[in-house]
Amino acid sequence: MIKAKIRKAYNELAESYNRLIEHKPHNAYYDRPNTLNLLEEVNNKSVLDAACGPGKYAEILLSKKAQVTGFDFSSEMIKFAKERNKNQGTFFVHDLSRPLTMLGDESFDFVLCALALHYIEDWDMTIKEFHRVLKTKGQLILSIEHPFFEYNYYKSTEYFKKEPVKCIWSGFGIPVEINSYRRSLHDCIVPLTDNGFYIDKLIEPKPLKEFEKLDQKHYKELNKFPAFMCIRGVKK
Ligand SMILES: C[S@@+](CC[C@H](N)C(=O)[O-])C[C@H]1O[C@@H](n2cnc3c(N)ncnc32)[C@H](O)[C@@H]1O
Repeated sequence: MIKAKIRKAYNELAESYNRLIEHKPHNAYYDRPNTLNLLEEVNNKSVLDAACGPGKYAEILLSKKAQVTGFDFSSEMIKFAKERNKNQGTFFVHDLSRPLTMLGDESFDFVLCALALHYIEDWDMTIKEFHRVLKTKGQLILSIEHPFFEYNYYKSTEYFKKEPVKCIWSGFGIPVEINSYRRSLHDCIVPLTDNGFYIDKLIEPKPLKEFEKLDQKHYKELNKFPAFMCIRGVKK
C-alpha cells in the first residue's frame, strides 16, 4: 500500500530531514519564504499546520506569536516537532486522509499544508475538513509540487490521469524511495473551488538568492521552470 510506504519513508527520513531542514535549499530558500509570504499577520491567530513534518514552519509561526496546532502521520516527525518547539504548540500523530474529528468547526484562522497534498490520493475529504475547521474568511495556504513540473519529471504521457509515481531522494543522506500521486492542474484547483474556497492568490515561486550559493544547478533551473506552486484559498 502506497500510504504505508510513504509513512515508512518519512519515519526513516525524519532525523536527517529535521537536521537539514534549516538550510535545505528547496525548503529554506524556495518553499518556505514563498509560502510564508501568503500567510499575512499571524500574531494571536490560530494556525493548523497539517502534515507539519519536524515543525519548522510551526517554529517560525510560534516565533510570530501564532497559536499553532500541528499534525503529521509520521510519529518520528512529530517527535522532532515536539522537541523543536519545546512546550509551545500542540502536536499529534494523524493521517491527513482521515477526518479531523478531534478539531472543532470554525476553530482556526489559517490552515497551512506545505508540500504534503501530493501524498494524498483523494483530496476531497481533506479539503472539506480544512474548510470545516476554518473560520469564515479563514485562509487555506498550500504549497504543492507544480503539476507541470511533475508531468515532466515523472515522464508522464497522460496529463489528465491521476497516477501513482515514485522517485528516489538522495538529498537526505541514505537514498529513500518516495511515492506520491501526480495529477493535473485542474485536479489541484477543483477540490478547492468545489468545496467552498475561492482562490485569492497563486504563486509560481522563484528561489531566493541564498539558494544559488548552495545549489547553482537547481537555482538556474528553478528560475526557468517552477517545481512548486503556492496557493491561497479563502473560505467563502
Ligand atoms: C515534504 S514533508 C513537508 C513537511 C512540512 N510541511 C514542511 O514543509 O516542512 C511532507 C510531510 O507530509 C507528511 N505526510 C505525508 N502523507 C501524510 C498523511 N497522509 N497524513 C499526514 N502527514 C502526511 C510526511 O510525514 C512529511 O512529514
